[in-house]
Amino acid sequence: MKAISLFLIGLLLLTGACAPVSSDKKEQTDKRIKELISQMTLEEKLGQMSQFDPGQLGGPENAKQAIKDGKVGSILNLVGAETINELQKVAVEESRLGIPLVIARDVIHGYRTIMPIPLGLAASWNAEIAEKTMAVSAVEAASEGIHWTFAPMIDVSRDPRWGRIAESCGEDTYLTSVMAKAMVKGFQGDDLSDPKTIAACAKHFVGYGAAEGGRDYNTTLIPEVQLRNDYLPPFKAAADAGVATFMSAFNDLNGVPTSGNEFTLKQILRQEWGYQGMVVSDWASIAEMIPHGYAANKKEAAERALMAGVDMEMASDCYAGNVKALLDEGKIDMATIDRYVANILRLKFDLGLFENPYTDETLAEKTLLAEKHKEIAQQAASESFVLLQNKNELLPLSNDISSVAVIGPLADSPHDQMGTWVFDGNKENSVTPLTALKAKLGDAKINFAKGLEISRTKSTEGFVAAVEAAKKSDVAVLFLGEESILSGEAHSLANLNLQGSQTELLEAVQATGKPVVVVIMAGRQLTIARELQLADAVLYAWHPGTMGGPAIADMLLGETVPSGKLPVTFPKTVGQIPIYYNHKNTGRPADYEQWTDINKIPAEATQHSLGNTSHYLDAGFEPLFPFGFGLSYSSFDYSNLELSANSMGTDGVIEVSIDLKNTGKYEAAEVVQLYIRDRFGSVTRPVKQLKGYQKVTLKPGETKNVVIQLKAKDLEFFNGKDYVVEAGDFDVWVGTNSQEGLHAEFSVNE
Ligand code: BGC
Repeated sequence: MKAISLFLIGLLLLTGACAPVSSDKKEQTDKRIKELISQMTLEEKLGQMSQFDPGQLGGPENAKQAIKDGKVGSILNLVGAETINELQKVAVEESRLGIPLVIARDVIHGYRTIMPIPLGLAASWNAEIAEKTMAVSAVEAASEGIHWTFAPMIDVSRDPRWGRIAESCGEDTYLTSVMAKAMVKGFQGDDLSDPKTIAACAKHFVGYGAAEGGRDYNTTLIPEVQLRNDYLPPFKAAADAGVATFMSAFNDLNGVPTSGNEFTLKQILRQEWGYQGMVVSDWASIAEMIPHGYAANKKEAAERALMAGVDMEMASDCYAGNVKALLDEGKIDMATIDRYVANILRLKFDLGLFENPYTDETLAEKTLLAEKHKEIAQQAASESFVLLQNKNELLPLSNDISSVAVIGPLADSPHDQMGTWVFDGNKENSVTPLTALKAKLGDAKINFAKGLEISRTKSTEGFVAAVEAAKKSDVAVLFLGEESILSGEAHSLANLNLQGSQTELLEAVQATGKPVVVVIMAGRQLTIARELQLADAVLYAWHPGTMGGPAIADMLLGETVPSGKLPVTFPKTVGQIPIYYNHKNTGRPADYEQWTDINKIPAEATQHSLGNTSHYLDAGFEPLFPFGFGLSYSSFDYSNLELSANSMGTDGVIEVSIDLKNTGKYEAAEVVQLYIRDRFGSVTRPVKQLKGYQKVTLKPGETKNVVIQLKAKDLEFFNGKDYVVEAGDFDVWVGTNSQEGLHAEFSVNE
C-alpha cells in the first residue's frame, strides 16, 4: 500500500494551484496591493469585503454615495454597460482610493444566448462544447459590463428532487470534474484581463448537493471519506484549472455551516490545496449561521466566517457592522483582514480593472446573440439530447413525411425551454420546436394543438383538439416535461411524475393508434416509466435553451444523430432515491434469484422465503435507465478489449483499448466509457467508478481503435487517514453505459 501524506499533497499542490500569472507580474501586483492596503481605513477595507445587490443599496443616489465613501467593493445583479460604467466612474473617480468595483452576475448557462442547462451540457459528455458555451457566455456578459460569474456549479447531485440538480453536472465525480475544468477554462480563457473573459466561481463549497431528502437548503451529513472521494474532487479540479474564486455554501455540513467551516475552507481549500484565489459567501449565508444555530448574532456569525476564511460577504452586513468590535476584542487581527482584502484586490488587478475599469458601451449590440453564439448553443443542445427509446426505429422521421401532429405544453413555450437561472435571456429570442418544425416542413404539414396550457394544467379541455391533430397526422410528437420554474433554487419536488394531466394527454393521443414520439424538456430526470410504455420513441432534451427548437427539429428529422448519455441515473419511482451507479455493494447485494415482484408474493409467505438481499419489493433494485445510457440512430459494436499490461505498480499506467465499429446506417458519435472496480480496500469501494471516456465519431461501417489511459493514480482514494493507491485486483469494463461493457481484470502491485 502506498500512502501519500496529506501534508505532502498540500505541498505539491501549492506549487501548481491557481491562475497562470507570470511571477514578475504577480510580484508587481502584490506590491501594488500592499501599497494600497497601507493607505486604507478599516471602513474602506470592510467596503472591499462587502458585496451588495442594488436593491440593498437603497436607490441610485444612495448607491453612489456608498461607493464614493468606499463602502462597496462589489455589486451583484447590476445590469447594462451604461449603468455599470456610471457607478464604476464614481468608484474610480470619486472614491478616495479609486478602487474599481467588481460586478458579478449569475451567468450560469448563457447570458443572452441561452445554452442548455448544465445538466444537459453534462449529458453531452463533450468538454470542448461545454467550454465553448461558457466562452460565449463570458463574451456576452463581459460586453454588458459583467466581470465575474457565480459559475460553474459543481455540486455532485444524486437527488433529482433537489431543484438545483438542473444547475449541476449530475451524479458523477469524474464527469463533474471534467466539466468543471472545461467550464472554468471557457469563462476565464487564458487571461482574466482579456475583455472577452470573466472570472469564474466554483460553487457551492461544499456538499450542498447532498441536502437531505432533496429539499433545498436542508442539512447535509457527509462522512469525510465520502466528502473527499465524491464531493471534493470537482472543486479540486476547478482550483487546478485556475478558477479565480470559490463560493462557500448554505448547507450545514456535519453540524458546521459551510460558510463558517474551518475544516473545508481553511484546512482543505487553503492549507491542503494551497488555493490563493478569493472566497465569497453565498447570498446572506454568513448571517444565516444565526438561524442555523451556529452563531448567536451577526457579530458571532462574522467571527465564524472570518475564522474559516470567507473573504467577501454577499448580501448581508455581518462584516461591515462587526469587524471593528472583533478587532477591538482581539478575536481577529488586522493581518487577517488585510489578507482577505488582498485576495479581493488581487482579483480586481487580475481582471485588469485598475487599468481598464470601463466597458465599451457599443460592444453589447455587436456581441449578444451573434450567429456564431447561436450555432454553438444549437450544437450544445443537440449533443445534450439523450435518446431513451426508439421502438421500430420510429426516429428519425422521414423528411418527406406528409403530416406531423405537434402536441403538448412545451412545444411552443419559449420561456420554459430556457430553463432555470436565466436572468438575461429573452424568450423572444428562443426558437421553439413548433417554429423550427414549421420552418423545416412547412406550415401545411404541422397540426398543432397544445393539449394543456402549461405543464401543471389539470383540465383536459384541450384533449379533443390534440386527439384530432393526431388523427389527421402520420405521427404525433408530444412535448412534455416541466416548466422552468419547477427546477432551480428552492424548487424541490417530492413527486417526479409528469405534472398536471400530461400522462393522460399522452394516453389519449396514444389511443389514436398513431406512432408517438415524446420529447421531454425538464430540469431533472423525471420518473417516466409509464410514458415509456405509451410512447414509441422518447428523446430527453432537458431544458435546451435559445436554440432548443432547431436542435430538436434537426434530430427528429435525422439531420443530426443523438449522442448524449445520461449524467444521472433515472429512477423508476421516487422511493428508489438515492439511486446512483457508483454505490457500495452491501453485504447482501441484490440479484433476480432472490427478488420476488410484490405482485407475485404468495399470501402468507414466510418471512425469509423472498430472499434476504438489498432491494425493494415493489421497485426491485435496478433503475429505469442507468448512468451513461443513451441510444443512437446508429448502432455500435465493441470488440477486442485489450490491456497493455495485466498489472502495474502504484505509479504505473495501463492502456485500455477496444475496437469500436459503427454497425448502423448513420454517421454517429458514441461515448466509450471506462469503469473500474477496486474489489477490496481498506475502506469499502464502489461497485463501479467512471475513470475515463472518449466521444468518438464514426462513419457507417467504420471501425476505430479507442485507447484510454488508466493511471494507477486514477485509482487513488481517501481511506479515512490518507490518500492511497492500494495494491490488489481490479475489474475494468469498457462499454456504452454503466451497466454494459466488455470486461477484463488487472492488478496493482506494491
Ligand atoms: C445562490 C447562488 C447564487 C447567489 C447569487 C444564491 O441564492 O445559492 O448560487 O450565486 O444566490 O445570486
